[in-house]
Amino acid sequence: MPWLDWLSLFVRWFHVIAGVAWIGASFYFIWLDNSLETPPEWKKKQGIKGDLWAVHGGGFYEVAKYAYGPQTMPKTLHWFKWEAYSTWLSGIALLIIVYYFAAAAYLIDPAVKSMSEAEAILRGIALIAGGAIIYETACRTKLANYPKVFAIALVVMLVVVSYLATHWFSGRGAYIHVGALIGTIMVANVWLNIMPAQRKMVNAVANQQPIDPAWGAGAKLRSVHNNYLTLPILFIMISNHYPMTYQHPQNWLVLVALMAVAAWIRHFFNLRHVGKVKPSILISGAIGMLAIALWVSWPRTAPVVTAHSESNAAAETTEPTNAQPQPVTELDKQIMALVETHCQGCHASSPTDDIFRVAPLGVKFDNWEQVTRQAPQIIHRTTVTRDMPFLNKSNMTDEERAVIASWAQQ
Ligand code: HEC
Repeated sequence: MPWLDWLSLFVRWFHVIAGVAWIGASFYFIWLDNSLETPPEWKKKQGIKGDLWAVHGGGFYEVAKYAYGPQTMPKTLHWFKWEAYSTWLSGIALLIIVYYFAAAAYLIDPAVKSMSEAEAILRGIALIAGGAIIYETACRTKLANYPKVFAIALVVMLVVVSYLATHWFSGRGAYIHVGALIGTIMVANVWLNIMPAQRKMVNAVANQQPIDPAWGAGAKLRSVHNNYLTLPILFIMISNHYPMTYQHPQNWLVLVALMAVAAWIRHFFNLRHVGKVKPSILISGAIGMLAIALWVSWPRTAPVVTAHSESNAAAETTEPTNAQPQPVTELDKQIMALVETHCQGCHASSPTDDIFRVAPLGVKFDNWEQVTRQAPQIIHRTTVTRDMPFLNKSNMTDEERAVIASWAQQ
């Protein structure tokens, strides 16, 4: 459905722009808060507790943070909330357009769990809403007084959610649902807590009443959570380009490990902002990432097929001709037949698949020339990442994959 593709393009584009604005503003204010210095006496007298100077885009900026609030309400006061709201709204719209309109193609993987489209969508919504409600409820209990214990509880919840999602949905559908839950938690923190606290502060200033420091303190815990969740959610936003992660047999563990190391690296920057430079965090984070990459992509030995060995010799002696190349050896013919059965439904000039009306990513295997030219990709996707045929729609067997693996050895 071309209109759906265009809708997806515009909404995704908007989502990325809004997300850049949200996380950019968030990074900026964290940096700002952590970089404030003790102001001169005359500023302190006005109630300013920290200030800093910056130069950007051809001008000098002087920023001051008040201990409580200004004496009188400024005429214009800038809020930063629509970045968050519009990122979430467009993200949910994208989830619906991509994963719920085409649930059979993107959300359901029969090899993981067969279910109807309606059931998959309901499970998806339940996971996001359920997780967000549990988090929000926990924030309002005494648990919130123990930030470290709370952090552990939050991690446990994300592990459970990752496990459930990857055992219900296709790999990429699962990852995106974990991301949608994290995004929902982050925006709910802004909407249900940070914004109301700020409204109280603004009203107090407007009515010349004292500001209760407890208002800001409640929002603090949630800002800390949002801060540590930024890098993990950014990974999930780009994860669907990396099938080696979501297609891994332990994809839930890959996700958890990547999120944990990302949060750890975020910790380095948080400390650095307050002047504590701890390279050990960055180094252990880099080692962690490397360890994950090695674990995920460690070559798994593919079964070897030997039946074709006589035909190898023929392949080596064939002279290339100017005519349209044709499969020559027995193995070549076998490969072409496999591509016809398992790939051409989608990857052809005029696909016959019921969902993919255009060759996905423009990848076509109409003839032997295209097949040989894209041999590395074909081999990679069928024997290494094994995410093709897409969701194994045509049930390609391990024996068939082994034939492609043996072709790779030529
Ligand atoms: C049901 C449709 C379908 C079938 C059948 C299918 N593919 Fe795909 N293929 C896709 C989709 C969709 C994508 C894009 C995935 C994405 O968004 O990353 C894709 C992407 C690819 C890519 C990645 C191109 C790139 O530049 O990243 C390769 C390579 C590929 N397929 C090879 C194959 C091979 C080989 C087969 C047969 C064994 C096959 N596909 C069968 C739907 C299909």
